Amino acid sequence: MTLLLGDTVPDFTADTTLGPISFHDWIGEDWAFFFSHPADFTPVCTTEMGRTSQLSAEFTARGVKPIGLSTDTVEEHFKWIEDVNDTQNTTLRFPIVADPDLKIAKLYEMLHPSESETAAVRSVFIIDSDKKLRLTMTYPMNVGRNFDEILRVIDALKTSDANGVALPADWRPGDLAIIPPSVSDEEAKIKFPQGFDTIRSYLRTVDITSSQKDNA
Ligand code: BEZ
Repeated sequence: MTLLLGDTVPDFTADTTLGPISFHDWIGEDWAFFFSHPADFTPVCTTEMGRTSQLSAEFTARGVKPIGLSTDTVEEHFKWIEDVNDTQNTTLRFPIVADPDLKIAKLYEMLHPSESETAAVRSVFIIDSDKKLRLTMTYPMNVGRNFDEILRVIDALKTSDANGVALPADWRPGDLAIIPPSVSDEEAKIKFPQGFDTIRSYLRTVDITSSQKDNA
């Protein structure tokens, strides 16, 4: 079953480096950044785990909990985390799921046989507190992910939810937002009393920073 945006993500129980979890319960009221990588003790994965750990305050500030996965055992994860901490100057505290029998990798379609039959590709699942899938990205084994983009898209999703707006290409917090075509001009005047610019009838921009400050 292919996972589609808006679907409730499959629940599972698993052993992790922080003990056994039931995935939906573990997510709780937060969001999750669930990401797979091919294998422990591999170079690109080591940098990605290190980067996620270094960014832990950024994830916490956004109400997002990271959780990794590879098709290795908890014991292998523990040994590898020592290397991650040593080489990436960090102390990794988020859980890494053990999946030696490939149960979860198969459930989440993290195995792409043209890349490998047994090692996961670099899948990303951003999951909200309703356990709905909000974004997926899939990177190949030999290219590490861009963590600026992962944080940016989390900011964009949360900004869209909070303000009922869409966000343009390369949007960053503080940039102008877009009024979705489903909102009429009349509705937009009520919703955005600060005013908005109409560049085309279908392309209307709004500065949401003032209303965000008012709501703070
Ligand atoms: C790596 O993490 O460096 C890696 C893992 C599997 C294939 C290629 C690279």
